[in-house]
Amino acid sequence: MRRLSCLYFIALWVLTASRCAEPARVSWRLHTDSRWIVDRHGHRVKLACVNWASHLEPMVAEGLNKQPVDWISKQIASMGFNCVRLTWPLFMVTNDSLGSMSVAQSFWNLGLVEYIRGIRRNNPKLLDVSLLAAFRAVVSSLGENNVMVILDNHISKPGWCCSNLDGNGFFGDRYFDPNLWNIGLARMAKMFRRTHNVVGMSLRNELRGPRENLRDWFRYMERGAEVVHSANPHVLIIVSGLYYDTDLWFLGRIPMKVSFTRKLVFELHWYASSSGVIWEDGNANELCKDATDQVMSKAGFILNQGMPLFVSEFGGELGGQNVNDDRYFNCFFAAAAKLDFDWALWTIVGSYYLRKGIVGMDEPFGVLDKDFSGPRNASFLQRISALQAPFQGATSSKPTHRILFHPLTGLCVQRKQDQGQLQLGPCREPEAWTHTHCHTVRVRGTDLCMRADQLAKPVRLGADCTDHGSEWKTVSESKMQFSSNIVGSNVTVCLDIDFSTKTIITSPCKCLREDTSCDPASQWFQLVNTTRSTPASR
Ligand SMILES: *[C@@H]1O[C@H](CO)[C@@H](O)[C@H](O)[C@H]1NC(C)=O
Ligand SMILES: *[C@@H]1O[C@H](CO)[C@@H](O)[C@H](O)[C@H]1NC(C)=O
Ligand SMILES: *[C@@H]1O[C@H](CO)[C@@H](O)[C@H](O)[C@H]1NC(C)=O
Ligand SMILES: *[C@@H]1O[C@H](CO)[C@@H](O)[C@H](O)[C@H]1NC(C)=O
Repeated sequence: MRRLSCLYFIALWVLTASRCAEPARVSWRLHTDSRWIVDRHGHRVKLACVNWASHLEPMVAEGLNKQPVDWISKQIASMGFNCVRLTWPLFMVTNDSLGSMSVAQSFWNLGLVEYIRGIRRNNPKLLDVSLLAAFRAVVSSLGENNVMVILDNHISKPGWCCSNLDGNGFFGDRYFDPNLWNIGLARMAKMFRRTHNVVGMSLRNELRGPRENLRDWFRYMERGAEVVHSANPHVLIIVSGLYYDTDLWFLGRIPMKVSFTRKLVFELHWYASSSGVIWEDGNANELCKDATDQVMSKAGFILNQGMPLFVSEFGGELGGQNVNDDRYFNCFFAAAAKLDFDWALWTIVGSYYLRKGIVGMDEPFGVLDKDFSGPRNASFLQRISALQAPFQGATSSKPTHRILFHPLTGLCVQRKQDQGQLQLGPCREPEAWTHTHCHTVRVRGTDLCMRADQLAKPVRLGADCTDHGSEWKTVSESKMQFSSNIVGSNVTVCLDIDFSTKTIITSPCKCLREDTSCDPASQWFQLVNTTRSTPASR
């Protein structure tokens, strides 16, 4: 009996161990298929990355004094990120006396002796190895946890980035010699040639400053891309635009010429301040339209031209106290769902060893808290999980239906079990909708449509889809407020949510225009094309 149960447990262990040993392991070689990034079977791989800084003065990935590297890698994976954009400074790779310096020495030189103790405690094996070896150790720890890596040349001279006059902004600047840059790119690409989880290289972060010009952009970006390609043919080559990586307009006129195919990806940064709007001073509907239009005309258009767009930096304060960032996030989440682009959040880092002279500086954008002890804001993580899975597959599978995404919560509209009511639930199991030219919002494949029967009451699903109460038009500039008339009256309402029960209700439309004081985000619903399976299609 005892032996039997022991055998049983061994069998069980073998079974579970072998199951655990092969989680949905992505095949690391990626390439592009029109606007999508795909694996070698042609299946879409959506980059859902988080940035991890390793380019500041110490040249060590942040947080290694607070937690073991493997712990941080596991956190990243368990939060649902499948990839890290790992930043590196050029001089770490081109100046041998820097690259070969030990981690301890680097902190010692900066007078950050306390961090040496922290690293000895949490990452003893990394203390006396070279900066380059420590960098490689971070990459392999991520690989062991099935996390892909994009190596991002963030700056030349180690330090916080970026300003127009910091000498790192454009080819020919004080610290930005194009030839040295090529040498660094080639070394880095070679170094990771056999490291399977390194799937891409960002050639250079946020080009900027008074020297910016298109002629040099094309000349040096094309050359840099070739240098990486010949040193390591396996990686995606990721290319930043102008003006702090907010502008790729010129690609609409002049394509980038390279000798290889299916590996170029363009990157964009999109923060609250990127579009020049001040969110708290305007009407959120109008500003969201302006910001999204601007992003589309400067960079988003390339998706329609069949090129992938990787929004390699976005982010804001996660404490929910910054009106500007909160409003921007609502708008960003809507666009990210609708366009289904690849992205990298800034940042996993909870605090920096040293940023602009401040020791141990808190990072309010950080997914981890200041001490790297756990998530700074669990509800934000839940919200972002909606964007981690692809909404659409690659080109071969056309979107089959649409879901109603609620950017404020990161949830999707689904049917309640009974009562013909609607609620917000995880976007893993969304209801599929059609929004027809006669403005009804129907559950796909049924004759049920949304109805506004009463003010401030749950929206109902009904089969009578011909009267006013079943006619939903998108109003306001954002096109995300769905408005109807209450049946038999002239009272106009918008879809909204009841926060306590997550039920979809009708309420008076909020701040459709001009009004700057109120925030319409609870009434924002974005129709998103998707190929995700739905209850009906299962
Ligand atoms: C390499 O780095 C060291 C240490 O910071 C510095 O003294 C030296 O000037 C650098 N060498 C070059 C060629 O930049
Ligand atoms: C997390 O974010 C939400 C929404 O932005 C905010 O309401 C909440 O206060 C934040 N929680 C913490 C602990 O910062
Ligand atoms: C709605 O408004 C129209 C035109 O203003 C009016 O003719 C009609 O009687 C109103 N209907 C109701 C139910 O109030
Ligand atoms: C969604 O699909 C519809 C119908 O196929 C199409 O017209 C529309 O452009 C798509 N929207 C996006 C953002 O891809």
